[in-house]
Amino acid sequence: MTSAIIGLGNIATVHASVLNKLGIEVVEVCDVDLEKAKSFINEYNLKANIYLDYKELIKNTKADVIHITTPHYLHKDMIVECLKQNKNVLCEKPMCISKKEIEEIKATLKTSKGKLGICHQNRYNHASQVLKKFLEDKKVKYATASLEWGRGEKYYLNSNWRGKKKTEGGSLLINQAYHTLDLLQWLNGFPQSLVGRVENLTHKGIINTEDIAMIKFFGDVDFGFSGSNMGAYDFPFSISILLDDKKVVRMIGNSLFIDGEQVELSENSICYGKPCYGSGHESLIADFYSCVKENKNFSIDVFEGEKVLKMILATYKSKGKKVRI
Ligand SMILES: NC(=O)c1ccc[n+]([C@@H]2O[C@H](COP(=O)([O-])OP(=O)(O)OC[C@H]3O[C@@H](n4cnc5c(N)ncnc54)[C@H](O)[C@@H]3O)[C@@H](O)[C@H]2O)c1
Repeated sequence: MTSAIIGLGNIATVHASVLNKLGIEVVEVCDVDLEKAKSFINEYNLKANIYLDYKELIKNTKADVIHITTPHYLHKDMIVECLKQNKNVLCEKPMCISKKEIEEIKATLKTSKGKLGICHQNRYNHASQVLKKFLEDKKVKYATASLEWGRGEKYYLNSNWRGKKKTEGGSLLINQAYHTLDLLQWLNGFPQSLVGRVENLTHKGIINTEDIAMIKFFGDVDFGFSGSNMGAYDFPFSISILLDDKKVVRMIGNSLFIDGEQVELSENSICYGKPCYGSGHESLIADFYSCVKENKNFSIDVFEGEKVLKMILATYKSKGKKVRI
């Protein structure tokens, strides 16, 4: 099978490494920066055509799957363009940055022969898979998650799209905490409402988006989240789950503890990028290609992609008041 990649920055290197491992040839790449595109194909030893205009790539490519690894604000237009041309598209998270954009993607999917997959790779971490299975016959009373990562001034100054509502859509929640919030709802059920607050405590004058958040979600199982981007290190996220029988289950990054005992995991998948990305990209990408090949539904589709986004967008609206999601 063959692939094309649009947007050749940080995460595209993870996609290229995984595709190489899976023996999937990258036949086209696109970036607005020609020099970046040239050094990308050199680094990964690709015999790929370079495009500067993503619409031209989408129109001309024969690749089985187009990977979108561009800044958040471009995702919707690029997904819609791929789907209109009946192309299969695997997009990095988040799928898009507003409810209106979610609806536009859904409407386009109705008449497209293309498949859409979203990169929620932390669902493929071994600990996440084991925990999901473990919870199948358990009753959960409450759950909570926390995350403290570090995104300093340099990180934002080196990027023209991060830290701005218009181009990133937010910061902590829609970028760094995104996977943790997705795991919370995937493990505990989609909540109906929430009360939350976001603030910019330590990045004033650097970004106009949030670096801290506190949220309580209400649903069949209530759960909480607290997180920040103001640390000096990306500590592994943690999710703690209180069961009806008072046992506590904890997932800390890719480690799992049930009632204080560490569960032995036979994890041998590779983390291709920063440790905080986890090691799920390879299994997710392999799964998407096998769904395309066998014409099966891919599990993290538009309906799964929209769940965490709706939780995040509702939190931005909440401002300390209870809101429906
Ligand atoms: N799944 C994960 O854990 C994970 C981790 C990191 C990043 N991401 C996501 O990946 C996406 C990209 O993040 P990144 O850190 O690689 O960003 P980045 O800024 O490093 O890379 C983005 C690339 O897109 C290119 N680009 C911009 N406009 C373009 C256009 N119109 N056409 C083609 N290329 C264009 C830029 O030149 C740049 O090379 C984001 O959505 C981010 O949230 C996901």
